[in-house]
Amino acid sequence: MKVTVVGAGAVGATCADNIARKELCSELVLLDIKEGIAEGKAQDMMQTAALLGFDTKIVGSTNDYSKTADSDVVVITSGLPRKPGMTREELIGVNAGIVKSVCENILKYSPNAIIIIISNPMDTMTYLALTSTGLPKNRIIGMGGTLDSSRFKYQLSQHLNCSPADLNAVVVGGHGDTTMIPLIRLATWNSVPVTKFLSAEQQEQIVKDTMVGGATLTALIGTSAWYAPGASGAALVESILRDEKKLFTCCVALDGEYGQKDICLGVPVTIGRNGWEKIIDFELNADEQAAFDKSAAAVRGMNDVLKTL
Ligand code: 2OP
Repeated sequence: MKVTVVGAGAVGATCADNIARKELCSELVLLDIKEGIAEGKAQDMMQTAALLGFDTKIVGSTNDYSKTADSDVVVITSGLPRKPGMTREELIGVNAGIVKSVCENILKYSPNAIIIIISNPMDTMTYLALTSTGLPKNRIIGMGGTLDSSRFKYQLSQHLNCSPADLNAVVVGGHGDTTMIPLIRLATWNSVPVTKFLSAEQQEQIVKDTMVGGATLTALIGTSAWYAPGASGAALVESILRDEKKLFTCCVALDGEYGQKDICLGVPVTIGRNGWEKIIDFELNADEQAAFDKSAAAVRGMNDVLKTL
């Protein structure tokens, strides 16, 4: 199996590191447009192989897409990250051109690849990847909800004083500070609804903190986060290559599901060897559906900006 990670910045490199440590593939290509950075980081990671005991061969490439040939999965992290005070949406002008040309280059050498989009604004970049490539919809997966759901579990675990691994909790909708919807009503702690253990104030705080999870880290670090975004990308790669059919929230093309069409938005999907395989209907209540529709309207507005670029 072969995986390519495009973009050797902090998110791409962390994603590659997770993939290598888990030995998800025999060959891993890290590609970046900046001279030497991908080769350098690939070599640095390879120098951990003896210590960590993995056999994945990591190859760095400065914009030479021929090295990515025949990749089974490609993770796209390219583009500008956000700076403190910036929204993900403000990145659209620059990142749209980058994501479109990366997709074209990738498909020249790996026509059968499954593509995972991490670049922001993630919902619109996923829609752009889908519409510009014309690939079957199951092969384009936006990572956002996987990350937001993991952040949601973190916030819940802080209030419940429990292991995040014992929680089931999902964030649907867009991957934006105001468009994501942490579904606290459906979240469980080993199958018991978390709402049993949390006051209304705590629930409100958890939802609020989850929604600004990325912005909070950007303010603290000075740039966009990378550990959880990188690990989220790697978790999706794992479910694809091992055909795990795990349930993640991912940004995928909707065709009437959750009441929306002609849009890519975060919903629960199974992830396996064919990419995203099945959308699961969580039966939103009226308030949740209204929030989902509002989120769709905001993302659709962003998608319309693509026509003006
Ligand atoms: C984040 O939320 C990178 O969009 C990503 O941290």
